[in-house]
Amino acid sequence: MIRKYAVGSPLETYAVVEKLETQTCEIPYLKMEDDGKKLSMQLDPDAVVYGLGEQVRGINKRGWIYVSDNADDPNHTEGKHALYGAHNFLLIDGTVTFGLFLDTPGKVTFDIGYTSYDQMIITFENPDYDCYVIEADAQNEKANAGCAMQIVHEFRGLIGRSYIPPKWAFGFGQSRWGYKNSTDIREIVKQYREHNIPLDSVYLDIDYMDHFKDFTIDGQAFPDFPEFVREMKKEQIHLVPIIDAGVKIEKGYPVYEEGMANGYFCKGEDGKPFTAAVWPGKVHFPDVLNEEVRQWFGNWYKVLLNQGIEGFWNDMNEPAIFYSEQHLKEVFEQLEDYRDKELDIWSFFELKNLIGGIDNRAEDYASFYHNYEGQKIRHDLVHNLYGYNMTKAAGEAFERLSPDKRVLLFSRASYIGMHRYGGIWTGDNQSWWSHIALSMKQMAGLNMCGFLYSGSDIGGFGSDCTPDLLLRWLEFGIFTPLMRNHAALGTRSQEAFCFDRKEAADLIGLRYMLLPYIYSEYMKAALNDTMYFRPLAFDYPDNVRARHIEDQLCVGESIMIAPVCEQNAVGRNVYLPEEMKLYRFRSMADFDTEVLAEGDHYLRVNLHEVLIFVKPEHIVPIVTGQIMNVEEEPSFADQCKVLSFVEKDSASYRWYDDDGYTRNYDMEKRMRTVTVDHSGKVTIV
Ligand code: GLC
Repeated sequence: MIRKYAVGSPLETYAVVEKLETQTCEIPYLKMEDDGKKLSMQLDPDAVVYGLGEQVRGINKRGWIYVSDNADDPNHTEGKHALYGAHNFLLIDGTVTFGLFLDTPGKVTFDIGYTSYDQMIITFENPDYDCYVIEADAQNEKANAGCAMQIVHEFRGLIGRSYIPPKWAFGFGQSRWGYKNSTDIREIVKQYREHNIPLDSVYLDIDYMDHFKDFTIDGQAFPDFPEFVREMKKEQIHLVPIIDAGVKIEKGYPVYEEGMANGYFCKGEDGKPFTAAVWPGKVHFPDVLNEEVRQWFGNWYKVLLNQGIEGFWNDMNEPAIFYSEQHLKEVFEQLEDYRDKELDIWSFFELKNLIGGIDNRAEDYASFYHNYEGQKIRHDLVHNLYGYNMTKAAGEAFERLSPDKRVLLFSRASYIGMHRYGGIWTGDNQSWWSHIALSMKQMAGLNMCGFLYSGSDIGGFGSDCTPDLLLRWLEFGIFTPLMRNHAALGTRSQEAFCFDRKEAADLIGLRYMLLPYIYSEYMKAALNDTMYFRPLAFDYPDNVRARHIEDQLCVGESIMIAPVCEQNAVGRNVYLPEEMKLYRFRSMADFDTEVLAEGDHYLRVNLHEVLIFVKPEHIVPIVTGQIMNVEEEPSFADQCKVLSFVEKDSASYRWYDDDGYTRNYDMEKRMRTVTVDHSGKVTIV
């Protein structure tokens, strides 16, 4: 059951697709103070608080303070409070269990046991918000059993169906900031092919553009772009270009000229387009909160669609600001004061902050305006909606421009609601061991909020990757719907062919082996409003141990995973909430199995091994063979191979498959029942 409460005069964010009547009574479970600016509740000692999407720290959010304030921040350390997304959904699982969605585009602070471990305090910069309280129907029946999944399911119904990418986007992708031209990209593909490493896509970072101008191609780097796209497609490689939020200010550049002529850019106090700087130098930001601008900006993607492109990643859409024109002037003036000064402890840091603080400033975000449904609204009040609406512009455009064919789309900045238009990647992580673990936790949080198509930069974006880190990261990455290796300019090369090629090929091969299962489970999660990645407690609600496990996940209905996230570890502790069958894979063809009892186990995991734990009476459809891309993937229906743990007479699995590119997802027509009997015989009906 979902109940809606309104505080103040909430702004419509379109996060929610189901319109509910507003309750007039008080919000249950929470104490409201300060005219709605503060909501709080006591947390009982064992309560677990899930949610907040891609936020830093654990699956259980208790013990830290988080802020919804979309930030362009490449240092995802434990000390941070905000990353790129605002995902204001919480699931409090204690003596009472309920979900909470706070729908507001402004800044919200979630103190979840930070000030006091047994208190949750939510504060709003502007107390205008819709508050949704979500309870499971079966509450009270049996001490909350199964409530968490039910609550997420109800919440997901409220916010609408998750984005579905084309099937090729479940293949492995290679990206790097620094591939300069078609020669570089050909070489990457060649290396992948030569080393028999499967690959479905190569991402084009900002260097493909002419001076970082959206919807342009650098003609020297790519002399005949449409022909190059065709050439790559013949190799079964999909090119995926990046699109940035800022539009370069340049006379004669049509995106700029059209935006200016129609007044489509965000405006400053003086009514003139607001000028900031990002990669291309000075830019204006399209006012994507305005429907007409969204249509216009979305239509620009056609330029690349027409050249054969089938996927995009939207970036720098918090929006990131290197500096604003106005503030930079002020900084230069202030710098003069320091010229002949002997810098002491205070003035040295002042100077440092003066320069170091020129990007992404709160004051800059409070100095430009949107035309939102006829109202002039200051950007900082709707800041968290910008990336969402940029991606909505593209997503809506694809529905118009490519009605029969899905287009790959994901974004860096986001807000709940954007999950209907695209996925997300978790931005500029680092080649750190702790970031494998972080990405696992983020996947659980993101799935609750509807962002099913997600993944992090495999191998890490910043810092230098090492051979062992890449293998371990791939061992988790083979399960993430978005599986992409991406790295920053200037870092050590980390393509899968750079280090242990054979092992990397084997690991990525396992992804393709699992694809019938991964795709089926993704589609079921999207079409049924459920989660592809789940914390263990969601599947084992009565198991007290499972509530506190942060480094294992359930993936789809049949398996549990326990990746190694520690440098030099040769194994790890794994907790099994029930008896399971362990498949220990070194490659598709080289694996062994073992049934493990419920309880604690220390398991050895060599550097190139993947552990897959199959639940009792469960089945995982797979395919085997030399698979180089999704297009050439054999059909599961022809091979009828499975991983399974069937001890009773037989078990069955509902297998979803479709053509992988149209938008007809008729569950009933596309589902087949796979049955495996005790002897291992597989039948498909
Ligand atoms: C941002 C993105 C990163 C990209 C870089 C250059 O930092 O998060 O993925 O490589 O910009 O476009």
